[in-house]
Order: sequence, then structure tokens, then C-alpha cells
Amino acid sequence: MSESVLPAGPSQPAIVQTLRWLSQPVSFMESCRGRYGANFSVRFLGFGGPLVMLSEPQAIRALYTERSNGLPPGRSLAQPVLGASSVMLLEGDEHLAQRKLMLPSFHGERMRSYEGLMRETAEREVQSWPSGEPFALYPHMQAVMMEVILRAVFGVSDSSRAQQLRKLLGELLDRSASGGWQLRLLLASRFKRGGLLAAPPRLLRVIDEVLLAEIAERRLDPRLAEHEDMLSLLMSARMEDGVAMSDRELRDQLVTLLLAGHETTATALAWTLDLLLHNAPTLERLLEELEGGVGDEYLRAVIAESLRLRPVLPLAGRRLAVDLHAGDLHLPAGTDVTPAIWLTHTRPDIYPEPYAFRPERFLTDPPSTYAWIPFGGGLRRCLGASFAEFEMRVVLETVLRLRELAPVSPETERIARRNVMFSPRNGTRVRASTKTKSAAKIVTAS
Ligand code: HEM
Repeated sequence: MSESVLPAGPSQPAIVQTLRWLSQPVSFMESCRGRYGANFSVRFLGFGGPLVMLSEPQAIRALYTERSNGLPPGRSLAQPVLGASSVMLLEGDEHLAQRKLMLPSFHGERMRSYEGLMRETAEREVQSWPSGEPFALYPHMQAVMMEVILRAVFGVSDSSRAQQLRKLLGELLDRSASGGWQLRLLLASRFKRGGLLAAPPRLLRVIDEVLLAEIAERRLDPRLAEHEDMLSLLMSARMEDGVAMSDRELRDQLVTLLLAGHETTATALAWTLDLLLHNAPTLERLLEELEGGVGDEYLRAVIAESLRLRPVLPLAGRRLAVDLHAGDLHLPAGTDVTPAIWLTHTRPDIYPEPYAFRPERFLTDPPSTYAWIPFGGGLRRCLGASFAEFEMRVVLETVLRLRELAPVSPETERIARRNVMFSPRNGTRVRASTKTKSAAKIVTAS
């Protein structure tokens, strides 16, 4: 077996590489690819050792299919907010058991049962858009996602509690939005003080009080089994040993689902609309499909291509539990490794003309599993991937059925950071007008 050698990478101090990563992530990664090849090592503050970035599907497969690989570095920094029993932070058998319990809520019949709620929420939001005035779509997509999560996941029906949660959770998300916050978090990790900076304890305490009150009330509800929201389902579910989830465990999963599912999907929608509005033939073909009511094959391809060209999350790594071998790459156990999602998605050998928005490629020549990784992969692949794609189909179809949109700028949005995400810098600014002709509703959930 060949000896383990970390791939080469920039020799600048960690602080310089961290600042380049935080301020210009795409050009930083692309310059590393240009200089060192598909796999390279970088150094970021707070990571302890080097982080190996991969963009060869074969190496990504090796990383994701090894079931014993552990959590990525840095994820534990989220513990003060997510809570110790969050599915995002558990490892090994505990993680698998929790995933198994939660997975059915995000698939099949259960997922389809949320369609009406998603559609009505999107319709209500679209009705509030100004006519003719420029405005940013992103906050409106956020509002839809927040509402869907509050109702489908939390199942909050008490309107004053819903209002309170909307405000508190919005505040929590806004606090962590800036690049400055990320730098503080990495510095805090470097000095082992992550928890203190992750979120203000008072805000978290109030959020917990409201969530625990909702859980306590639900426990007393004799019709718990009839509710369709995910909280009620999780409350009724039992682990393999017959044990139910505690209030604290339930709270941790709720906050996790909100943080993992809310801004990611809103951002992906804002990007998809931005790309569509700047690619007239693609938009035209999509509208033809929607108006014809003949299926949603092209809509699915549009979403897949948008998640390829504008991956919302740039990294989804692991800490190696065992040595990794893939082709010429040999990495020792203990190394922190992540796919560079952007670089993987812009490989010209897999995606000819990689920077062009061309959904047709997903119809004629779909990529292999480890070449399209907007949701990560393996045992920790995004739990809400199908739910997010379904929600995107329903919301896009609703928006395009009800409004005619025009971009404010002739150029597509530039990439800016929001939390750990790649977001449209100006939130996808558009002008909207009411549509005269309406399309059939054709979204399917398989
Ligand atoms: C377009 C929208 C979304 C994107 C791009 C996205 C992306 C991701 C990525 C990259 C990961 C890490 C996967 C890995 O490490 O292999 C992840 C994990 C996760 N996501 Fe999503 N996500 C989205 C929407 C959602 C939604 C709607 C939910 C739920 C409401 C959700 C819940 C989760 C959870 C619970 C995890 C942790 C899984 C685990 O550690 O086992 N995500 N997501």
C-alpha cells in the first residue's frame, strides 16, 4: 500500500487562507485547483490541522462510502445552538437510530401531505409582492420557508406562539448571517471558546422556553396521533428499544431542522429564479412545460442544474476514521477531508461548458452520484434533500404561474456569504407583474 502524503496546497499562513476563503471562496478554490490540481490541502484557523479538499468523484465516493468516517471539524461549534442530541451532531449508532426515526417524515406520502400547505403559503406570499417596483426575492423565499417549517415541522397552530417563534428564530438566523460572525466563530474555535460566541444565551433561552411550552402542550393533546406535523410524529415514534424521545431531544431536532432547512432552501430558490431570469430560452421552455401540464421533467432538471451551478453549501466534510485510498490519493486516518462542491460541479470533463446554465444536461447525460453532491453524501447525506427539492418544485411552479418576473440587473447575481452559505449578493432583485395566462398545477412528488 502506498504511503500517505497530503496533497500540496497554498503555503500562506492559516489566517491569510482563512480570510481568502471567507472573502473570495470561489476564486480561492479555483486558484488552488489551477495550481495544485483536483485535490489539495488548505489551512483554516480553528481547524487544528490541514483540510484536504477533493473534487474527483472517485475520491469523494471513497470518502462518503466509508461508514465509520466521523463528523467534520467545526460542526461541534454548533452544539450550543443545535443541542447535544441534534441529528447533525450525533455519531455512530445513535446517529443512525435518530435518522431512521426522522427519515419517513421527509419522504413519500408524508412529504406529499405537505403540498397543499406549501402551495397556499407560496400563493399568499406572492400576492404580497409589489407590482412594477424592484424588490429582492430572497426575503420572500425565506418567509415561505419559515412558514412551511413552522407549520409542517413544528406544527404550531397557536398564532401568537407562531408569531413569537417567527420573530425569535428570524433573529437567531440574522445574528449568524455575516462573514464577520464566521471569522469570530473560527477564532473562537481556535481559542476553544466557540459556544460563547455561537449565539446569545438569552435569545436561545427564550426560544427554548417557547418550544418546550409547545412540546408540553402537545403531550397533553389526546389527538396527538391525528396530527401530521413532524413534531407530533417524532413524539409518537419509538426507538428500536421502545423508548420515546425526551423533550430536550425533540427541541434539538426542531432547531436543527429549522437551521438546516430554512435558509438553504430559500437560497436555492433565489438562485434558481436568478438563473432562470437570465436565461430566457430556458425559462421559456420551462413555462411551456408548466403551461402544457405535461409533467415536471424539465422543472426537475432546472432545479438539479441550479443546485449544480450554485451549490448553496460549499463543503460537506468528514474526519477520516480509517485511511482513505483512491487512485493516487492516500490519506491517513484522522485527516479532515471535504469535497469542494463548487469545484466538483464545475469539472469540464463531467460538465462540458461548466459555467453555462443548461438543465438539458440532466436530461441527456445525468452525472454519476458522486459528481453531483449539493446535498453531500453517504450516511450523513442531507435528511431533507427530497423534501427540499419537492418544496422547490411547488414554490417555483406557484411563482411562475402567478407572476411574470423580470431581472433588475442584466447580470446574474454575484456570490456572497450568508452564514456558511453561498447566497445571491443582492437577494435576486426583480420586478414583478401579474400574469394573465395561468398554468396547470403539475408538480409530482416521487
Ligand atoms: C436546497 C436545500 C438544502 C441543501 C442544499 C442542503 C444541503 C445539505 C448538506 C450539504 C448537508 C451535509 C451533508 C453531508 O455532510 O453529507 C445537509 C445536512 C442536513 N440537512 Fe440539508 N440541505 C437542504 C435542505 C434541507 C431541509 C429542507 C432540511 C429539513 C427540513 C434539511 C435537513 C438536514 C439535516 C437534518 C442534515 C444533517 C444530516 C445528518 O447529519 O445526518 N436540509 N444538508
